[in-house]
Amino acid sequence: MELCVALDLPSKEKNIELAQKLREYPLWLKVGLRSFIRDGKEFIKELKSLGEFKIFLDLKLYDIPNTMADAAEEIAKMGVEMFNVHASAGKEAMSGVMQRLQLVPKRPLVLAVTALTSFDEKQFRTIYNDTIEHKVKQFAKEAYEARLDGVVCSAFESSLIKQITNTDFLTLAPGIRPFGESGDDQKRVADLQLAKQNQVDIVVVGRPIYQASDPKAAVEKILTKL
Ligand code: C5P
Repeated sequence: MELCVALDLPSKEKNIELAQKLREYPLWLKVGLRSFIRDGKEFIKELKSLGEFKIFLDLKLYDIPNTMADAAEEIAKMGVEMFNVHASAGKEAMSGVMQRLQLVPKRPLVLAVTALTSFDEKQFRTIYNDTIEHKVKQFAKEAYEARLDGVVCSAFESSLIKQITNTDFLTLAPGIRPFGESGDDQKRVADLQLAKQNQVDIVVVGRPIYQASDPKAAVEKILTKL
């Protein structure tokens, strides 16, 4: 398993300060909508200059196929190692992204978001007219058939997704509380042991690291258990 640290602090300076503390570790850093909208490409460049970090740009693209492929091409030019799209944008849009990325020399990994964890079953049904479990399976299959590299999913769904796709199909799971810490606003949290049992490839951890009194020690402790 690999560790991805969510840079969810409220300012660029605070995110950079955290990354500086963690510069000696081979980590993924997750840059989300808020910091990318505020701090843009320069922020990505600055992070890369700090250490051997791999960047996961968590922008969850959702648009018509041509616009998604255009955006994917621009993301690839930034030199990030991974980004994501919504599986509900459809198989055609996902395939279009992967086809366009064949044109770039070193393409990033592409993951599909299956179901947003903020939905409960009732809210989910209003939009998708289906159960979360059934739809997650369908989205994962479609992402696999569209030749994406993997999906964003909960640790609980990871092994099922690998069973219906391929063991090499990557799973990235947020909602991780490494050693059973408080779940904060996350509803279904898993610890590292459960993530490992479920064959998760990359665990995303935010608050248990950046709210720790010693984030570096927190990362070190997690890395020994991956
Ligand atoms: O602080 P915490 O470890 O809960 O942060 C998890 C990160 O993963 C946050 O950036 C959150 O937005 C993101 N995320 C999530 N659930 C998803 C997708 C992304 O918690 N389904």
